[in-house]
Amino acid sequence: MTQEALSGFAADIVRWQTAHGRNSLPWQNTRDPYRVWLSEIMLQQTQVATVLDYYPRFLQRFPSVEQLAEADQDEVLALWSGLGYYSRARNLHRGAQAVMALHAGQFPRTAEQLQTLPGIGRSTAAAIASFCFGERVAILDGNVKRVLTRVLGFSDDLAQSAHERALWSRATELLPNNHLADTMPRYTQGLMDLGATICRGRQPQCLLCPVQARCRGLASGEPERYPVKTRKLKRSAQALSLLWAQRPDGSVWLEKRPSPGIWGGLYCLPVFESDEALKTLLPPGLRARLEPLPGFVHVLTHKDLHLSPWRAGFRASQTLPKAMASAQRPGAWFGSAAWPGLGLPAPIRKLLESSSSPVATSVSSY
Ligand code: ADE
Repeated sequence: MTQEALSGFAADIVRWQTAHGRNSLPWQNTRDPYRVWLSEIMLQQTQVATVLDYYPRFLQRFPSVEQLAEADQDEVLALWSGLGYYSRARNLHRGAQAVMALHAGQFPRTAEQLQTLPGIGRSTAAAIASFCFGERVAILDGNVKRVLTRVLGFSDDLAQSAHERALWSRATELLPNNHLADTMPRYTQGLMDLGATICRGRQPQCLLCPVQARCRGLASGEPERYPVKTRKLKRSAQALSLLWAQRPDGSVWLEKRPSPGIWGGLYCLPVFESDEALKTLLPPGLRARLEPLPGFVHVLTHKDLHLSPWRAGFRASQTLPKAMASAQRPGAWFGSAAWPGLGLPAPIRKLLESSSSPVATSVSSY
């Protein structure tokens, strides 16, 4: 592209964002890096509408990086419960502690330094630095890759890291060059807004696009061909069995999941690799009274979890066998009043809340 075309592109995006972009989301109109960081992490793989619900609650409880750093991890995960991708919450907590311990409570002011914090990759670091400090750095998340590969007619396969690096360079060339404190936040937000609302994966609204005249993808007649990425995500399936151990007062045994791993750090019904593994660990009296509940599938990014819950009525003071509850598998009995305040995976919360009536317990002794 010529120098004129490069600067014209950035100017078009900035102008369009000012007139047609999103300008009153709760994480906009602030340059506080804590607030912007929190929003960018919540918005990864998550719809704006969902974040609108979680973001104010999280900020109300943790209004500053210092308060987040001092929090108990359980409480951070409880506020994240239902958002998924829980490593984001664990990294956010560790990130806050790093800001306090290594940066005297002040966020680093460059994308390069922001990237040293846990959970902040190149694109997120650039988003924070451009929004808060007007740094001239490119973002390149999934939406922005789509916008730029279309505009540039960039057809090299992004599965190859050399091609991805080349796209980062092109993205950097396209950045504004003037009045960066004003133009960088608008330009960054403009690319995000364009990707989310106009330049969508299917049926892009090219007639409404501010850069339609510059777009090689549109000129080719097939903007939807971009981006090109051959390697498809390999999906797998995993079967897991869940033990719903319930006492007559309705309390349920929940264990704290090991981290790293699926649902690391969250509270969950005890998880077993198979129905057999669950049954063999139970004493015969309880095994005989196990009640199968309808199985269901929970879809994660890389994996479908096929979950089979089993309910067992425990007596009032009955404990779990050692192999199910120990220092290695910590847990506790929680009444239903405590569930809302716990970090529970969304499917487990739904399951518990769907039928939490007490189960019949046997009076036989064993
Ligand atoms: N997705 C990621 N960052 C965003 C932002 N700042 N506004 C809207 N959607 C986003």
